[in-house]
Amino acid sequence: MDFEDIETVAVLGAGNMGHGIAEVAAIAGYDVQMRDIKEEFVQDGYDNIEWSLDKLAEKEQLSQDEADAALERVTPLVDMEAAVGDADVVIEAVPEKMEIKKDVYGDVEAYAPEDAIFATNTSSLSITELSEVTERPGQFCGMHFFNPPVRMPLVEVISGEHSDDETLDAIEALAEAFDKTPVRVRKDSPGFIVNRILVPLMNEACWLVHDDVATIAEVDSTTKFDMGLPMGSFELSDQVGNDVGLHVLEYMHEVLGEQYAPCPLLEEAVEDERLGKKSGEGFYDYE
Ligand code: CAA
Repeated sequence: MDFEDIETVAVLGAGNMGHGIAEVAAIAGYDVQMRDIKEEFVQDGYDNIEWSLDKLAEKEQLSQDEADAALERVTPLVDMEAAVGDADVVIEAVPEKMEIKKDVYGDVEAYAPEDAIFATNTSSLSITELSEVTERPGQFCGMHFFNPPVRMPLVEVISGEHSDDETLDAIEALAEAFDKTPVRVRKDSPGFIVNRILVPLMNEACWLVHDDVATIAEVDSTTKFDMGLPMGSFELSDQVGNDVGLHVLEYMHEVLGEQYAPCPLLEEAVEDERLGKKSGEGFYDYE
């Protein structure tokens, strides 16, 4: 599939990342089919896109007409065949569990056109392993967005062992068409570039509090006001989703070694369902 031939983008998953990616694609003028497994999940994703587009219009980053037109380009769906049957690119943003993603690719493969590209938004899992459950490992790569996708300019374009150059070029050009800055990640390694740096930073912040070296507020003031990050480490962890950070860390721990062992403070937050902004409470309270 050449970049010039891409018209319809299917986004699988309407959660934090999925709805944000669907929104970015719709703003860029693509027809978007956003799919999740339950009606209520797709509706929540659609409502979040509407909220975000209105916010962008309110801040004059888009005109109200552009915002309305973008929303009209998004079709919320539950049926997999309808979602991917005529897609040129399928961007998958389902939960960060290898088995869930593998199951999804089994279904997608059955319905997607033969020349469609599959791009996974995984935060850390092996692109090569995922590509091997499909019959098109050459037409498969990583396309990793950052939260919130509509505000974050970077997209990692990750090559799996089998990804062919045409696929990587097309996805890189698509990221540019989405008004993002793509960075090519040459090797399929846990956490790629950003999460390999960012997730251990958030984990280390947890160890500081766990070991009673500093409070959450003290650590966050330091990361924000001295290190120049736009958010404190705990704020960022809440923004990303503490469950997402933990999954990335567990995978890095499994593949890369002991130095990535998750801090109990993070594990407890996830066990207690303090997942961050999306659940109303994380390291901070958002209610
Ligand atoms: N759509 C539209 N508006 C949004 C929005 C969205 N999705 N999300 C937030 N906003 C709005 C807020 O509601 C707020 O509006 P009000 O002013 O009306 O209250 C406004 O944006 C805040 O915007 P500002 O520009 O004033 O705030 P800011 O300058 O602090 O920018 C930010 C916000 C862009 C999120 C910034 O804090 C930032 O860059 N944070 C770091 C985020 C980051 O690093 N993300 C990557 C995490 S790693 C990851 O995601 C990868 C992974 O796989 C785990």
